[in-house]
Amino acid sequence: MTANGQVNSGEDFGRFIDLRKGWVDRRIFSDEKIYQRELQQIFARSWNFVAHESQLPRAGDFLTTYMGEDPVIVARQRDQSIKVFINSCPHRGNRVCFADAGNARRFVCNYHGWAFDTAGKLSGMHAEYAYDENDIDKSQTRMQPVAKVAAYKGLVFATFDPDTPSLDDWLGDFRWYLDMLLDNEEGGTEFIGGCIRSEFPANWKFGAENFVGDAYHAGWTHDSGARATTGGIPFPDIDMENSFHSSVNGHGWEFGTEGVGDISLLGSPAVMEYYEKLRPKMADRLGKMRSQIWGSVASVSLFPNISFLPGISTFRIWLPKGPEKFELRTWVIVNKAMPEDLKREITKRVMLTFGPGGLFEMDDGENWSNCTTVNRGEVTRRQLLHYGSGISRRVDDHPILPGTVFRGQYSDANQRLFYERWVDLMEAKSVKDLPQRPEPRMTGRETRELVGVSAL
Ligand code: FES
Ligand SMILES: [Fe+2]
Repeated sequence: MTANGQVNSGEDFGRFIDLRKGWVDRRIFSDEKIYQRELQQIFARSWNFVAHESQLPRAGDFLTTYMGEDPVIVARQRDQSIKVFINSCPHRGNRVCFADAGNARRFVCNYHGWAFDTAGKLSGMHAEYAYDENDIDKSQTRMQPVAKVAAYKGLVFATFDPDTPSLDDWLGDFRWYLDMLLDNEEGGTEFIGGCIRSEFPANWKFGAENFVGDAYHAGWTHDSGARATTGGIPFPDIDMENSFHSSVNGHGWEFGTEGVGDISLLGSPAVMEYYEKLRPKMADRLGKMRSQIWGSVASVSLFPNISFLPGISTFRIWLPKGPEKFELRTWVIVNKAMPEDLKREITKRVMLTFGPGGLFEMDDGENWSNCTTVNRGEVTRRQLLHYGSGISRRVDDHPILPGTVFRGQYSDANQRLFYERWVDLMEAKSVKDLPQRPEPRMTGRETRELVGVSAL
């Protein structure tokens, strides 16, 4: 930063993070220039989550969302492909589609009546005689498409940058972990019951870093909530020997191996029973270790702003709306093969725990907004924040777990590695130069090489 606290472009962003000792500079949570740089360097170049395929089953189905602060339309085409384009009219820039989701044959702009097909191409104009023959090339006029769209087992991602590595490379070995959520049962997953939106007066990174690794807060912040949903049972103590943080390219999964902690927070015996019956089949499908991890106390983030709680069934994104505000969008994710009454039961239980009125969501929101506003103080922001927990607990070459692995669930390991990736993106001139962190063990699209290993 300069003497007056401004961030220079081309700055060494590694200065804001000390991975070796475990410190983070508070200014990354409120500085406007850093935030603008995040929009350019991170959100305009990352794979952003835009939809679950189950939200768009038929041709013409669409939804609207954001990539960074840029509004986009995500639409299923007649050939079943999914296209993503900026929700802004090429005439004067008006928002074209105001609906959250629906089915449409075309999108018509409110201002002068230009119409676009479901691929975003100009398909009709009000009073076309306003234009002489060479005034406009209609075939080239359209809402701006993103550079690439790709899906992994139902999750659809898009990026504005043609140079962003393939989605498989971006997710890397983290696919091994993701399959616990997306592929634990034949038929995969679906989103049910619509999207819930809420706004938080907090920096988006507090949501992402909390889910990437902060098991530590749960036993304290959520203790009363956990007692309420489990009939008085306090949050379980953490078995530091048999729990882990794993990180790949800034994505992180912190987890125990006891198999039931997160599921039990839903407070539903029927859900517990379903997963217990499923677990032997899950072991055949994913190997014994993953079947034991599934359902444990755990939380997950995909870099930069996508999170979920395996076993609790909430899936969410933290959409940035300025350095001190984010919009949280959440969905309920379930296995398609589950009976309908169980899906309804899970939806209800997610609302009671991690909906905007849920017991746990409110605990978190208050902490994150206070962290954001307090960290901005003129003198306060000159002090560093401590991220040193578990710094010497790295496990080299774990026989099963891919990624960078640290032992002990109460740890800042995944948070440090999230910020390492943050620095990678903030500094990279081209996304082509991004390192793989760590070097991948898995190759290609197929994630089955590590399936079937049975030792814990
Ligand atoms: S701004 Fe859309 S038609 Fe004019
Ligand atoms: Fe929390």
